[in-house]
Amino acid sequence: MTEIIHGDLYDFPKYYDLLFGSDWKAEYDFLLACFDRYAKCKVKRVFEPACGTGRLLIKLAQKAGLEVSGNDLNEKAVAFCNARFQKAKLADRVEVGDMSNFTVKKKFHASFNTINSFRHLSTERQAVGHLKCMAEGLTKGGLYILGIHLTPTVGDRMESESWVARRGNLQVNSVMWSKELDLKKRNEHLGLTIDVYTPTNHIQLHDTMDYRTYTAKQMKSLLAKVPEFEVVALHDFRYEMDDIIEIEPNTEDVVFVLRKR
Ligand SMILES: C[S@@+](CC[C@H](N)C(=O)[O-])C[C@H]1O[C@@H](n2cnc3c(N)ncnc32)[C@H](O)[C@@H]1O
Repeated sequence: MTEIIHGDLYDFPKYYDLLFGSDWKAEYDFLLACFDRYAKCKVKRVFEPACGTGRLLIKLAQKAGLEVSGNDLNEKAVAFCNARFQKAKLADRVEVGDMSNFTVKKKFHASFNTINSFRHLSTERQAVGHLKCMAEGLTKGGLYILGIHLTPTVGDRMESESWVARRGNLQVNSVMWSKELDLKKRNEHLGLTIDVYTPTNHIQLHDTMDYRTYTAKQMKSLLAKVPEFEVVALHDFRYEMDDIIEIEPNTEDVVFVLRKR
Protein backbone atom coordinates (compact mmCIF):
# COMPACT_ATOMS: atom_id res chain seq x y z
CA MET A 1 0.00 0.00 0.00
CA THR A 2 1.50 3.37 -1.01
CA GLU A 3 0.81 6.49 1.04
CA ILE A 4 0.87 9.56 -1.19
CA ILE A 5 1.82 12.89 0.42
CA HIS A 6 1.84 16.28 -1.27
CA GLY A 7 4.27 18.28 0.84
CA ASP A 8 7.63 19.94 1.31
CA LEU A 9 10.71 17.70 1.43
CA TYR A 10 12.30 20.13 3.90
CA ASP A 11 9.51 19.25 6.37
CA PHE A 12 10.87 15.68 6.40
CA PRO A 13 14.44 16.19 7.67
CA LYS A 14 14.98 12.49 8.31
CA TYR A 15 14.40 11.67 4.62
CA TYR A 16 16.21 14.79 3.39
CA ASP A 17 19.22 13.94 5.51
CA LEU A 18 19.34 10.35 4.35
CA LEU A 19 19.16 11.47 0.71
CA PHE A 20 21.78 14.21 0.83
CA GLY A 21 23.63 13.37 4.03
CA SER A 22 25.48 10.44 2.49
CA ASP A 23 27.12 12.83 0.02
CA TRP A 24 29.19 14.82 2.50
CA LYS A 25 32.78 13.67 1.97
CA ALA A 26 33.74 15.39 -1.28
CA GLU A 27 32.23 18.70 -0.12
CA TYR A 28 33.79 18.35 3.34
CA ASP A 29 37.29 17.74 1.97
CA PHE A 30 36.86 20.54 -0.56
CA LEU A 31 35.70 23.05 2.05
CA LEU A 32 38.63 22.32 4.34
CA ALA A 33 41.06 22.57 1.42
CA CYS A 34 39.51 25.92 0.39
CA PHE A 35 39.78 27.26 3.94
CA ASP A 36 43.44 26.30 3.85
CA ARG A 37 44.23 27.66 0.42
CA TYR A 38 42.12 30.79 0.07
CA ALA A 39 41.33 32.23 3.51
CA LYS A 40 43.56 35.01 4.76
CA CYS A 41 42.77 34.17 8.35
CA LYS A 42 42.86 31.03 10.43
CA VAL A 43 39.48 29.33 10.07
CA LYS A 44 38.08 28.34 13.44
CA ARG A 45 34.45 29.41 13.16
CA VAL A 46 32.19 28.54 10.22
CA PHE A 47 28.64 29.52 9.34
CA GLU A 48 26.21 27.90 6.91
CA PRO A 49 23.21 29.90 5.70
CA ALA A 50 20.26 27.65 4.77
CA CYS A 51 22.01 24.86 6.69
CA GLY A 52 19.06 22.46 6.60
CA THR A 53 19.78 19.35 8.66
CA GLY A 54 23.43 20.36 9.09
CA ARG A 55 24.78 17.36 7.18
CA LEU A 56 28.08 19.23 6.62
CA LEU A 57 28.15 21.28 9.83
CA ILE A 58 28.09 18.13 11.97
CA LYS A 59 31.13 16.73 10.16
CA LEU A 60 33.00 20.04 10.35
CA ALA A 61 32.32 20.17 14.10
CA GLN A 62 32.97 16.52 14.91
CA LYS A 63 35.83 15.68 12.60
CA ALA A 64 37.57 19.02 12.01
CA GLY A 65 36.87 20.47 15.48
CA LEU A 66 35.48 23.72 14.07
CA GLU A 67 32.98 25.90 15.89
CA VAL A 68 29.87 25.86 13.69
CA SER A 69 26.61 27.77 13.38
CA GLY A 70 23.96 28.39 10.78
CA ASN A 71 20.42 29.36 10.04
CA ASP A 72 17.48 27.99 8.08
CA LEU A 73 13.89 29.05 7.48
CA ASN A 74 12.57 25.57 8.20
CA GLU A 75 11.93 24.95 11.91
CA LYS A 76 11.89 21.17 11.49
CA ALA A 77 15.29 21.14 9.81
CA VAL A 78 16.71 23.40 12.53
CA ALA A 79 15.29 21.17 15.30
CA PHE A 80 16.75 18.08 13.57
CA CYS A 81 20.15 19.75 13.29
CA ASN A 82 20.22 20.93 16.90
CA ALA A 83 19.10 17.50 18.15
CA ARG A 84 21.98 15.94 16.26
CA PHE A 85 24.46 18.42 17.81
CA GLN A 86 23.05 17.63 21.25
CA LYS A 87 23.28 13.90 20.65
CA ALA A 88 26.93 14.37 19.65
CA LYS A 89 27.44 16.40 22.86
CA LEU A 90 28.40 19.50 20.90
CA ALA A 91 27.60 22.97 22.19
CA ASP A 92 27.06 24.33 18.65
CA ARG A 93 23.55 25.41 17.64
CA VAL A 94 21.79 26.67 14.52
CA GLU A 95 18.75 28.92 14.49
CA VAL A 96 15.62 29.64 12.54
CA GLY A 97 16.35 32.62 10.34
CA ASP A 98 16.09 34.08 6.87
CA MET A 99 19.39 34.05 5.00
CA SER A 100 18.46 37.28 3.22
CA ASN A 101 18.21 39.23 6.45
CA PHE A 102 20.12 38.18 9.54
CA THR A 103 22.94 39.13 11.87
CA VAL A 104 25.31 36.98 13.91
CA LYS A 105 26.59 37.49 17.43
CA LYS A 106 30.09 36.18 16.68
CA LYS A 107 31.79 36.83 13.34
CA PHE A 108 32.81 33.74 11.39
CA HIS A 109 35.97 33.03 9.38
CA ALA A 110 34.40 30.96 6.62
CA SER A 111 30.99 30.07 5.30
CA PHE A 112 29.48 27.95 2.59
CA ASN A 113 26.28 27.29 0.72
CA THR A 114 26.86 24.51 -1.74
CA ILE A 115 23.84 23.01 -3.42
CA ASN A 116 21.77 25.80 -4.97
CA SER A 117 20.10 26.84 -1.71
CA PHE A 118 20.99 30.44 -2.57
CA ARG A 119 18.67 30.13 -5.58
CA HIS A 120 15.71 29.84 -3.20
CA LEU A 121 16.01 33.62 -2.82
CA SER A 122 13.58 34.81 -5.46
CA THR A 123 14.49 38.48 -5.92
CA GLU A 124 17.60 40.57 -6.56
CA ARG A 125 16.88 42.47 -3.36
CA GLN A 126 16.97 39.26 -1.31
CA ALA A 127 20.10 38.04 -3.10
CA VAL A 128 21.94 41.32 -2.44
CA GLY A 129 20.60 41.35 1.13
CA HIS A 130 21.99 37.85 1.62
CA LEU A 131 25.46 38.68 0.30
CA LYS A 132 25.56 41.86 2.41
CA CYS A 133 24.62 39.88 5.56
CA MET A 134 27.27 37.28 4.73
CA ALA A 135 29.92 39.97 4.24
CA GLU A 136 28.88 41.65 7.49
CA GLY A 137 29.19 38.35 9.40
CA LEU A 138 32.62 37.44 8.00
CA THR A 139 35.96 38.54 9.34
CA LYS A 140 38.30 40.30 6.91
CA GLY A 141 40.03 37.74 4.70
CA GLY A 142 37.32 35.16 5.45
CA LEU A 143 35.53 33.10 2.82
CA TYR A 144 32.08 32.53 1.42
CA ILE A 145 31.97 29.40 -0.77
CA LEU A 146 28.84 29.55 -2.89
CA GLY A 147 27.80 26.74 -5.23
CA ILE A 148 25.01 27.18 -7.78
CA HIS A 149 23.90 26.01 -11.20
CA LEU A 150 24.02 28.79 -13.77
CA THR A 151 21.71 28.80 -16.79
CA PRO A 152 23.93 28.10 -19.78
CA THR A 153 23.45 30.41 -22.77
CA VAL A 154 24.51 27.78 -25.31
CA GLY A 155 24.06 24.01 -25.42
CA ASP A 156 21.73 21.77 -23.45
CA ARG A 157 21.18 22.22 -19.76
CA MET A 158 20.78 19.51 -17.18
CA GLU A 159 17.06 18.92 -16.78
CA SER A 160 16.86 16.22 -14.16
CA GLU A 161 18.83 14.63 -11.34
CA SER A 162 18.19 11.55 -9.25
CA TRP A 163 19.55 10.16 -6.01
CA VAL A 164 19.23 6.91 -4.08
CA ALA A 165 20.23 6.40 -0.46
CA ARG A 166 19.88 3.58 2.03
CA ARG A 167 20.39 3.31 5.78
CA GLY A 168 19.45 0.10 7.57
CA ASN A 169 15.91 -0.80 6.49
CA LEU A 170 15.14 2.63 5.10
CA GLN A 171 15.63 3.42 1.42
CA VAL A 172 14.91 6.78 -0.20
CA ASN A 173 14.86 7.32 -3.97
CA SER A 174 14.38 10.73 -5.43
CA VAL A 175 14.09 12.40 -8.79
CA MET A 176 14.03 16.14 -9.41
CA TRP A 177 13.24 17.59 -12.79
CA SER A 178 12.80 21.00 -14.35
CA LYS A 179 9.10 21.54 -15.06
CA GLU A 180 9.26 25.05 -16.42
CA LEU A 181 11.96 27.59 -17.12
CA ASP A 182 10.94 31.24 -17.40
CA LEU A 183 14.06 33.23 -18.14
CA LYS A 184 12.16 36.53 -18.22
CA LYS A 185 10.79 36.03 -14.73
CA ARG A 186 14.07 34.34 -13.80
CA ASN A 187 12.28 31.35 -12.34
CA GLU A 188 12.84 27.63 -12.69
CA HIS A 189 9.94 25.54 -11.43
CA LEU A 190 11.03 22.07 -10.34
CA GLY A 191 9.18 18.88 -9.59
CA LEU A 192 10.42 16.43 -6.98
CA THR A 193 9.24 12.88 -6.24
CA ILE A 194 10.63 11.02 -3.26
CA ASP A 195 9.91 7.35 -2.60
CA VAL A 196 10.53 6.17 0.93
CA TYR A 197 10.61 2.41 1.48
CA THR A 198 10.70 0.50 4.76
CA PRO A 199 10.13 -3.27 4.97
CA THR A 200 6.42 -2.63 5.61
CA ASN A 201 5.69 0.77 4.07
CA HIS A 202 5.99 2.85 0.92
CA ILE A 203 5.51 6.61 1.13
CA GLN A 204 5.61 8.75 -1.99
CA LEU A 205 6.16 12.45 -1.47
CA HIS A 206 5.35 14.90 -4.25
CA ASP A 207 6.93 18.33 -3.95
CA THR A 208 7.64 21.33 -6.16
CA MET A 209 10.11 24.14 -5.64
CA ASP A 210 11.21 27.32 -7.35
CA TYR A 211 14.75 28.42 -7.98
CA ARG A 212 15.80 31.83 -9.26
CA THR A 213 17.83 31.58 -12.46
CA TYR A 214 21.25 33.12 -13.04
CA THR A 215 23.16 33.42 -16.27
CA ALA A 216 26.88 34.07 -15.83
CA LYS A 217 26.26 37.72 -16.69
CA GLN A 218 23.47 38.08 -14.11
CA MET A 219 25.68 36.51 -11.44
CA LYS A 220 28.53 38.85 -12.33
CA SER A 221 26.22 41.84 -12.11
CA LEU A 222 24.93 40.66 -8.72
CA LEU A 223 28.44 40.21 -7.33
CA ALA A 224 29.38 43.70 -8.54
CA LYS A 225 26.72 45.05 -6.13
CA VAL A 226 28.63 43.62 -3.18
CA PRO A 227 32.16 45.01 -3.49
CA GLU A 228 32.87 43.72 0.03
CA PHE A 229 33.67 40.44 -1.75
CA GLU A 230 36.37 39.58 -4.27
CA VAL A 231 36.10 36.40 -6.36
CA VAL A 232 39.30 34.50 -5.65
CA ALA A 233 38.64 31.27 -7.56
CA LEU A 234 36.01 29.29 -9.43
CA HIS A 235 35.60 25.54 -9.07
CA ASP A 236 32.73 23.23 -9.98
CA PHE A 237 30.60 20.53 -8.38
CA ARG A 238 33.33 17.93 -8.86
CA TYR A 239 34.94 19.63 -5.84
CA GLU A 240 38.47 19.11 -7.13
CA MET A 241 41.00 21.59 -5.78
CA ASP A 242 43.19 21.15 -8.85
CA ASP A 243 40.37 22.04 -11.23
CA ILE A 244 40.06 25.80 -11.38
CA ILE A 245 37.45 26.60 -13.99
CA GLU A 246 36.57 29.52 -16.21
CA ILE A 247 32.95 30.22 -16.95
CA GLU A 248 32.09 29.42 -20.57
CA PRO A 249 28.70 30.00 -22.25
CA ASN A 250 27.80 26.34 -21.61
CA THR A 251 28.96 26.23 -17.97
CA GLU A 252 26.34 25.13 -15.44
CA ASP A 253 27.70 24.22 -12.03
CA VAL A 254 30.03 26.72 -10.42
CA VAL A 255 31.46 27.11 -6.95
CA PHE A 256 32.33 30.76 -6.39
CA VAL A 257 35.04 31.24 -3.80
CA LEU A 258 34.40 34.73 -2.43
CA ARG A 259 36.72 36.44 0.02
CA LYS A 260 35.84 39.39 2.25
CA ARG A 261 38.09 42.33 1.42
C1 LIG B 1 18.75 22.16 -0.67
S1 LIG B 1 18.48 22.47 1.03
C2 LIG B 1 20.16 22.61 1.55
C3 LIG B 1 20.38 22.34 3.01
C4 LIG B 1 21.86 22.29 3.39
N1 LIG B 1 22.53 23.51 3.07
C5 LIG B 1 22.56 21.13 2.72
O1 LIG B 1 23.59 21.37 2.03
O2 LIG B 1 22.13 20.00 2.89
C6 LIG B 1 17.92 24.13 1.00
C7 LIG B 1 17.59 24.72 2.36
O3 LIG B 1 17.35 26.13 2.19
C8 LIG B 1 16.43 26.52 3.17
N2 LIG B 1 15.94 27.87 2.82
C9 LIG B 1 15.19 28.24 1.77
N3 LIG B 1 15.00 29.57 1.77
C10 LIG B 1 15.66 30.06 2.85
C11 LIG B 1 15.86 31.36 3.39
N4 LIG B 1 15.34 32.45 2.84
N5 LIG B 1 16.61 31.49 4.51
C12 LIG B 1 17.14 30.39 5.13
N6 LIG B 1 16.97 29.14 4.66
C13 LIG B 1 16.26 28.97 3.54
C14 LIG B 1 15.40 25.40 3.15
O4 LIG B 1 14.59 25.40 4.30
C15 LIG B 1 16.33 24.18 3.02
O5 LIG B 1 16.65 23.64 4.28
